[in-house]
Amino acid sequence: MSGIRPTGFLHLGNYFGAVRNYVRMQDEFDCFFMVADLHSLTTHPDTRELKINVQRVLAENIASGLDPEKVALYCQSHIRETSELYLYLNMLAYQGELEKTVTFKDKVRQQPDNVNAGLLTYPVLQTADIILHRAELVPVGKDQEQHLEMARTFANRFNHRYGEVFPEPKAFNFGDELIKVPSLDGAGKMSKSENQLATLYLSDDDEMIRKKVMKAKTDSGPSEPNSKKPDYIENIFLLMKLVSKPETIRHYEMAFNDCTVRYGDLKKQLAEDMVAFITPIRQRAETIRQDQKYLKEVMEKGAEKARRSAKETMDKVREAMRLNYY
Ligand code: TRP
Repeated sequence: MSGIRPTGFLHLGNYFGAVRNYVRMQDEFDCFFMVADLHSLTTHPDTRELKINVQRVLAENIASGLDPEKVALYCQSHIRETSELYLYLNMLAYQGELEKTVTFKDKVRQQPDNVNAGLLTYPVLQTADIILHRAELVPVGKDQEQHLEMARTFANRFNHRYGEVFPEPKAFNFGDELIKVPSLDGAGKMSKSENQLATLYLSDDDEMIRKKVMKAKTDSGPSEPNSKKPDYIENIFLLMKLVSKPETIRHYEMAFNDCTVRYGDLKKQLAEDMVAFITPIRQRAETIRQDQKYLKEVMEKGAEKARRSAKETMDKVREAMRLNYY
């Protein structure tokens, strides 16, 4: 089970860090992937663009290979059971531990005029999302580790107080291949909040992709054979490894090592390989986005699957809590 907030455009970092993992999981596990529209209300109270953003996230994930026939792909707000479980879990979550959450402290700094209770209990809602399906594996990035730790705490606390209902959820990734997708400016990784021109989005058109790649930082090239690559050059090679052919990479590795590399050519090649990688995804996503009927069907089908699993869990929850009076 995992969730994706509908608060921005999907970029290459999301693709290689998250979506590709979901796609690999769908053949091996019983999967629930959710658009976290309720979570987005904690930071984006204006809901006028929500529908468009939810549809975009769905389209981009399907275009990247997520198959709504294989997984439950649904919208958080369509599953009312989540809100019920969230309420019960709120009585098991303490102010002190919630206030210590790193993401909460960040948001307090970022939006001091809107420190709402939803922000404080964000990890409680996330716990409800996960344990509603009694999920055990949660494919998430490093930034979500603390939330997962809290989900284990709340699940265990429930089990102790009311009886064993939930397994312990834990972060999941395939092997230890946590792939770094470096940003094009040579600093940090691609992310939606930082330098937009250094991040490649799945919605970027060909010209934009070329423009961004050609702007990547280089220098006049190595002067000694077999030099160590500066970070920003290493990053360009890392990006190549994600999308270029092995022989292309070999060619430029050799050119770097014997000091004949021309970074202009290297970037042109990388740009074309990025275009070849991103364009089909962007085009599929656009087609899906225009098909309102299909998107509605996807959401309905996903909600149906998620609701079935939610109902089973909530029966157990109410029974364990002795809330089943009749
Ligand atoms: N908090 C997650 C994020 O910001 C999104 C999310 C919501 C989530 N519910 C979830 C992730 C449940 C995993 C499981 O990316």
